[in-house]
Amino acid sequence: MSGNPTLDLIGARLRAAPSRWLVTGCAGFIGSHLLETLLRYDQQVVGLDNFATGHRRNLQQVQASVTAEQWARFRLLEADICDPAACHTACAGVDYVLHQAALGSVPRSLANPQATNAANIDGFLNMLVAARDAGVRRFVYAASSSTYGDHPGLPKQEHTIGKPLSPYAVTKLVNELYADVFGRCYGFASIGLRYFNVFGPRQDPEGAYAAVIPRWTRALLLGETVTINGDGETSRDFCFVDNAVQANLLAATTQNPDAINQVYNVAVNDRTTLNTLFVQLREELALTHPQIAAAKAAYGDFRAGDVRHSQADIGKAQQLLGYQPSHRLAEGIRVAMPWYVQQFTR
Ligand SMILES: NC(=O)c1ccc[n+]([C@@H]2O[C@H](COP(=O)([O-])OP(=O)(O)OC[C@H]3O[C@@H](n4cnc5c(N)ncnc54)[C@H](O)[C@@H]3O)[C@@H](O)[C@H]2O)c1
Repeated sequence: MSGNPTLDLIGARLRAAPSRWLVTGCAGFIGSHLLETLLRYDQQVVGLDNFATGHRRNLQQVQASVTAEQWARFRLLEADICDPAACHTACAGVDYVLHQAALGSVPRSLANPQATNAANIDGFLNMLVAARDAGVRRFVYAASSSTYGDHPGLPKQEHTIGKPLSPYAVTKLVNELYADVFGRCYGFASIGLRYFNVFGPRQDPEGAYAAVIPRWTRALLLGETVTINGDGETSRDFCFVDNAVQANLLAATTQNPDAINQVYNVAVNDRTTLNTLFVQLREELALTHPQIAAAKAAYGDFRAGDVRHSQADIGKAQQLLGYQPSHRLAEGIRVAMPWYVQQFTR
């Protein structure tokens, strides 16, 4: 039992008729949660990762959270999605693909657009071709809220996007275009999930391209200064990773023909400013580390390529997929913080 009724229902169905899944990016943050959930539901899973940004420790943590019998149903393929042959090997005999492997981060794509393009567009196309050739039942892929670009409308609805604001956003938009064309040209069944600022345990707190919640949590726990980019009134729809897992499993298994070859927002339909996020993280961590209650943030420049406000309309995913987010920001923070505390207070 996950404690999440929608996920538990899918889990019961999966257990009744186990399938074979490919999770690309399985050593990363979201991929490792997908892997963990699928193994808990007694599925066969092939994982593909080149460890560009993923970690073996994530796989070790998954192993520790499942039974030996469940872990024995996992096979790791250490490979790069830029290698078409590896993609074909990974897709062989697979029912469902959950494609997460990509180079994330807007700033990374500004610093090295070619690397982002190679993994996120060339690698994506390799995976599409391999999945098509293998005749998989469904290809679910990680799209991104960055696709809304400079469109100011709120909350974001899937059919109205603006111009991309970064090379990363271009790559995620191109993913959607390719998936759509594969549907039209080859009858290929895919679903794109536009994640909005996913967070949770195992999201990497280290490095220049760390996302805001792990970066600030690390800084607060280590007594370092938290720097807020801009005036702190930039807002986001923070999405706990369990919601993203639920959306993936619903997208992979939906029998609703209207739901296929579509893209969906995956978030909560909440909007939280960075200033509010800082206060929430500080208050949660101060419950166990009272000295953190006095922490103050510093303010830096706005970050190039960042969207000012973000909030998802999740009506489409609710109606067509039956998506029901189980965690809002505060609940997700409560679940995620103990993992970070364990990382930094050993
Ligand atoms: N985390 C978010 O808030 C968020 C938001 C929108 C979209 N996304 C997308 O979700 C997906 C997963 O993101 P994440 O946050 O788990 O990131 P992550 O960096 O933790 O995971 C990505 C994984 O893909 C692997 N990978 C990267 N390039 C590869 C390649 N060429 N070949 C094989 N493996 C490769 C990495 O080693 C890593 O394990 C990505 O596609 C990302 O763009 C994430």
